[in-house]
Order: sequence, then C-alpha cells, then structure tokens
Amino acid sequence: MHDFNYRHDNLYCESVNIEELARKYGTPLYVYSRNTIISHYKKIKEAFCQINPLICFSMKANSNLAICKALVREGCGLDIVSGGELYRAFKIGASPRKIVYAGVGKTEKEIEIAIRHHIFFFNAESIPELELINRVAGRLGIRQKVAIRINPDIKAKTHKYITTGHGENKFGIDFETAKKTFLKKNRYKNLNVSGIHMHIGSQIVDAKPFVRAVERIADFIKDLESREVAIRWLNIGGGLGIIYSRERPQTAKEYAKAVLPVLKKVKANIILEPGRFIVGNAGVLITRIQYVKETPSKNFAIVDAGMNDLIRPSLYGAYHEILPVKSRSYSDSKEIRVFDVVGPICESGDFLGKSRKFIGLREGDLLSVMSAGAYGFSMSSNYNSRPRPSEVMVEGSKARLIRRRETYEDLIRTES
Ligand code: LLP
Repeated sequence: MHDFNYRHDNLYCESVNIEELARKYGTPLYVYSRNTIISHYKKIKEAFCQINPLICFSMKANSNLAICKALVREGCGLDIVSGGELYRAFKIGASPRKIVYAGVGKTEKEIEIAIRHHIFFFNAESIPELELINRVAGRLGIRQKVAIRINPDIKAKTHKYITTGHGENKFGIDFETAKKTFLKKNRYKNLNVSGIHMHIGSQIVDAKPFVRAVERIADFIKDLESREVAIRWLNIGGGLGIIYSRERPQTAKEYAKAVLPVLKKVKANIILEPGRFIVGNAGVLITRIQYVKETPSKNFAIVDAGMNDLIRPSLYGAYHEILPVKSRSYSDSKEIRVFDVVGPICESGDFLGKSRKFIGLREGDLLSVMSAGAYGFSMSSNYNSRPRPSEVMVEGSKARLIRRRETYEDLIRTES
C-alpha cells in the first residue's frame, strides 16, 4: 500500500495527512487513494496487454460514483449485479457497450431496463433466466447478447461464503446443461448466445484454480466449436486476492502469465471483472477511540466505527490490519498492550480486530483500518440507526468529499 505511508509518525494518504482529514470530516471516515485505484487498474491492463481484454470493474466492491467514474474515464467498463448499479453506471455516463450484468436473481424490470439501454452482455445464470431475457428482448424488438455463466466445479481456497465456482454453489450452469443450451441456442430467437462467463470466487491468492477453471472452459469451447457453435467472448470473472496480512497473492503479472497460455488457445475476446484487486488496498477506514476499557480478561479499544461500517471481520472473520494514525515509538511510551478493537454496536460480533498490539494507545487516538476499499462501504448498513460515514478521495495533495456523512434526517427519509 505504497500510497498509505508514515511521514514523521503521521499516517498519510498520498500527500495528505489523515489526521487532518479526520479533523475536517469527522470519523468514522473512509479515505481512498485515487492513485492506487488507477495504478491497480493499469497493472491488470498492462499484464494482459497482449490480448487487450475488456476490463469491467466489479461495482459491488465499491460503487461510489466518483471512484467508478475515475475508472470509467480511464476506459474501464463495469460489471454490475443490479438495477441500482446500472443506475449508478448511467449517472456517471458509462458506456453501455462496456457493461456486463451478472447475478442469479435479475428481475424482469431490471432485465428490461438493461436491454433498453443496450448493455453489452448479460451473464445468464439459469435456463429460466435465459428464457425471460429472450421474452423481454422479443417484446422490445432488440437482439441481446448473452453469455452463459458456467459453474466449472472448481474448489478455490477462500472463505466458504465467497467461493462461487463449486458445483454446490447457486451460481452458473453446469457443463452438461450449458452444452445442451448452446446446441439449441437458435431457439432463443431474440438472443445472441455467444459468450461464456465464469467467476470462481473472491480473494483467491493462488493462480492454479483459475488456470484449472479456464482450462476446463477452453476444452468446452473446443468441443462446442467442433459442433459448429462459436464462442466470441469469454469472461473469466474477477477474484484476484490482495494482501490483508501475510498473504502472498499472485500479482497481476503472475496471474496473466498463468492464464494467458490457455486464453490464447481460444479464439474468443476476453473480459475480466476485477473488484477487490483494484480498490481493496486503495481505501482505509479511519476511526477514533471513544473509550479504553479494561476488564479482568481483556482490554478493549472501543471505537466509533462498527460492524455496520465495515462488516468483513464480523461476517467472514476477515483480518484487516489496524494501524495508529499517529504512531508512537517504544521510546515514547513503554506501554505495549493488547486490545480487541470493537465498535459501539450491541452485538459481541461487532469487532474490527482482535488481540492487536499497540504502543501507548489512549482515548481520542485515531486508528486506521487498512485495506477497507473493497466491500467496505458497499456492504455498510444503518444497523443500530447509525448514519453511514463520509467518504473522501485523495489525489496528490488534494482531498475531495465524495460522499457526505448521513444525517439523522437521512435515516428516516423513506419512512412514513
Ligand atoms: N464477478 C462476479 C460475477 C462476482 O460475483 C464478483 C464478486 C466479482 C466479479 C468480483 O470479485 P473480486 O475481484 O472483487 O474478488 N463481500 C465479499 C466478497 C464477495 C464477492 C462477490 N462477488 C468480501 O468482502 O470478501
């Protein structure tokens, strides 16, 4: 995370002092580095430059308009999963020709809006969905491109909630059914069923399961070709892992090096859908310690951010590094103590980190929860009627508010 660094014991995002941001915008506060976002996008683009794929940022990782717009300006497409994400995509003027739409439960209304706006591809996850897209496209008189999402039945080593390419997951269609569907694709008169999609899971740190999945799909494409079915687009999803703690994930280059030989064997154009890889390490959650509470069994740093602001530790047992915004050295304070960093929410599952060592931690100190740029704000909620935090994007020495903090008014705006 080279854009989050200490300068004279103060944590900076690019050239901006995070303590000053916390003072100006309050806490909890999400802070993003624009440079990290763009440079991670470019890393993937460069790693795959030989085949010039369409890269669609997976908006579910972070759907803030300013962040998505920064990527779209660089030429990035978008991977969406709901009408809401489609709405956001339009708001920032994203080209529909670079939008791909996945998800097992698309509604008729969502499908209709997406077709009307001429999105590039639907990634269909079931036969009934394929039939519905066909009917809606027929009604609108628009021929729609569709990829079939294949579940390649590959087990990837990651948290069980975020593996998606195993046979028992709800995602995609098995090879047998997909084959039958491709062979009778002319039945779907209003569709151009010319793509294959896969996504085997998220936070995968090793390239092997990707290679295995892509190999299976490449064989499948060959088989289809021998039966006169041409696949023009192959979308290999996202899922690249990042460093939260001591992981040693494959780099974009290593990933490309592993999958490119297989991808080059298929004639199809390639689509990638990275989310976490682009934004994960580009954001931090800044929180202030309200109380230091000592009990006979534990020390708690009770902070003003909770599981409603960042649910990953509670939901997946995910590890996020937690750093002091102002670092104290051992010579300043001989006091090294171990804390559970917990939020204000009324659940024991409300924690950001357990058993973390700090030097001289005190009430009022600021902490930075690292690598919170992906699935941080986008999974936040108003649980316990807590207004959601502000978000700030840093570019060089400038910081811009890209979402204001919610007010109590906002909390009840839609109720009657
Ligand atoms: N494409 C599809 C079809 C997906 O379902 C996902 C993520 C992605 C792309 C992007 O995956 P990424 O590159 O970000 O790994 N909330 C969880 C992660 C859920 C991922 C869901 N699908 C977390 O906080 O770890």
